Amino acid sequence: MTKDFPGARRGSPSVRVLDDVDVSVAAGEIYGLIGRSGAGKSTLLRMVNGLETPTSGSVVLDGVDVHALPPKELRTLRHSIGMVFQQFNLWNSRTVFGNVATPLKIAGWKDEAIAPRVAELLDFVGLGGKAFAHPRQLSGGQKQRVGIARAIAGRPSVLLADEATSALDPQTTTEIVDLLRSVNREFGITIVVVTHEMDVIAALADRVSILSDGRVVESGDIHQILATPRHPVTAGLVGAYTGTSLTDGEKSALRAQFPGRRISVVVDAATSGGPVLSRLARLHGVDFAIIQGGVSRVKDKPYGQLSLELHGDDAAIDRFVAELSQTATVTTW
Ligand SMILES: Nc1ncnc2c1ncn2[C@@H]1O[C@H](COP(=O)(O)OP(=O)(O)OP(=O)(O)O)[C@@H](O)[C@H]1O
Ligand SMILES: [Mg+2]
Repeated sequence: MTKDFPGARRGSPSVRVLDDVDVSVAAGEIYGLIGRSGAGKSTLLRMVNGLETPTSGSVVLDGVDVHALPPKELRTLRHSIGMVFQQFNLWNSRTVFGNVATPLKIAGWKDEAIAPRVAELLDFVGLGGKAFAHPRQLSGGQKQRVGIARAIAGRPSVLLADEATSALDPQTTTEIVDLLRSVNREFGITIVVVTHEMDVIAALADRVSILSDGRVVESGDIHQILATPRHPVTAGLVGAYTGTSLTDGEKSALRAQFPGRRISVVVDAATSGGPVLSRLARLHGVDFAIIQGGVSRVKDKPYGQLSLELHGDDAAIDRFVAELSQTATVTTW
């Protein structure tokens, strides 16, 4: 699919904002779209609920070509897709109850059905006691909880989240990420998350596409992307997130300090699920010193990178590296 916007001035050439983008999201998964500011993430997300129209190509949702729908059906479809925003977009003059109830009213729900549904949703997002508060009386995290309750009120099959955590501090971000995971798990709602924050993608997404200047430069399973980023833009985002990728300058400093043979190993479920490193080191009679690295968790699985200086005779180190390479990504430097 492509999207061109008209040029800024009359007569100036149009600008291609999405170029040959092909992304497919499976029902029930959490899909991440990440990229720097201006990459085209919001434009792509807004295609899904028909707020933007592709210049060429199509968006197919549950087998339906979204942009081929007549206007009335497109409106109905739009109501069946939830959306949350960085700036929450709550109605300030309405209570929390009113914010969650209004879309249900618009969708034609009866008053008797609305009240218990809103109560249930506010309990779910942890705001049971705040029904009659106004948005101005809430923290950013609480506002986003209202935004999420409102977005899923009509039981959508898809939730679109555009920088839903970008206005929040790290602790609150974690809480909202957890809430989005529960939305996905408990209600089976497919979620598309747009963000520029790799930690949000790592905590949330099953699969991810990386956008750069309107193009998808890489797509894949989140563990695979973090372990073996192929495109430089991806490598940059991954390196900044883990803090474990080494710059050339850091490498030369470590080379001077640790003159033996050095390798970097991506640590993930494959290497740390069993004690692979220590077992292979013992098996081949190799010792190692950890000279740099870090391990964190991605979607509940360990992920990180360690750099090692290897000690032992050359043939033993060769065998160790060869066998380790069968279960882990190893680079020698
Ligand atoms: N309505 C519009 N008319 C013209 N150009 C637009 C319009 N909307 C977006 N653009 C341009 O399209 C490009 C992509 O914008 P988009 O908002 O999709 O980026 P983004 O990846 O969401 O960025 P951010 O992280 O800053 O939100 C930008 O260059 C932007 O200026
Ligand atoms: Mg955006």
